[in-house]
Amino acid sequence: MSATAATTTEAQQHTGMPVPQHVAIIMDGNGRWAQRRGLPRAAGHQAGSRVVRPIVETCAQRGVQALTLYSFSSENWSRPADEVAAIMLLLQEHLRNELPMMLANGIRFRRLGRREGMPAEALHMLDETERATAHGRGMHLVLALNYGARAEITDAVRDIANKVRQGELDPAAITEATISDHLGTAGLPDPDLLIRTAGQWRVSNFLLWQISYAEMHVTETLWPDFNLQDLDRAFRDFAGRQRTFGGLKAK
Ligand code: FPP
Repeated sequence: MSATAATTTEAQQHTGMPVPQHVAIIMDGNGRWAQRRGLPRAAGHQAGSRVVRPIVETCAQRGVQALTLYSFSSENWSRPADEVAAIMLLLQEHLRNELPMMLANGIRFRRLGRREGMPAEALHMLDETERATAHGRGMHLVLALNYGARAEITDAVRDIANKVRQGELDPAAITEATISDHLGTAGLPDPDLLIRTAGQWRVSNFLLWQISYAEMHVTETLWPDFNLQDLDRAFRDFAGRQRTFGGLKAK
């Protein structure tokens, strides 16, 4: 979808405030949260996974069309094996526990990231969750797992090159939409709000193509402490931004 798509949504008509169409969140700070309490890092991830449900439900109820959560990057495999294993187990537990909530809210679940390298059991549950929620009519919930934006763009370029080689695609007909349509987020609006918790101002190889025109909201709050007030603050911050997409401010 084009970056200039209107941000006026059905949700805005209810609240009077522009609601982002697609919220992307870099859930950072689980490790620091645990460290400050003298707990193992896995306890921080566990606390972080408990925060996901209220945020998902609230976004769905506010009329957000898509919510993408950066849950495990391609670089996160370099963490200690016990931490990686704990996150993969938490993910499976999360999918099992949250399926009823997803169905009750009409949520459509989608996995984003390379399949290769993901544990078979986790992939199976992710596929099952996608299948079980495919007929939903509500918000898209996207979990980025084994995800890196450069890898995603590389895969898209490879797919496009193969189509050109097979004569299915004329290079002269390649547009920005062609690229978007070959990414894992195909069919979703581009994120218009990118939230990062735990205070760092960086994008960490997350949705690099898709966030071109996103508004950034960085909060010092660590992800396990992120609550509905923090979400409200991010939404109000977004609503107050004047979005120009490289043009001029309205007079
Ligand atoms: C970043 O914190 C967080 C992660 C690498 C993993 C995020 C995982 C969860 C929230 C739990 C599982 C996910 C779901 C959806 C159930 P960090 O460890 O980098 O924190 P630090 O920067 O303070 O060390």
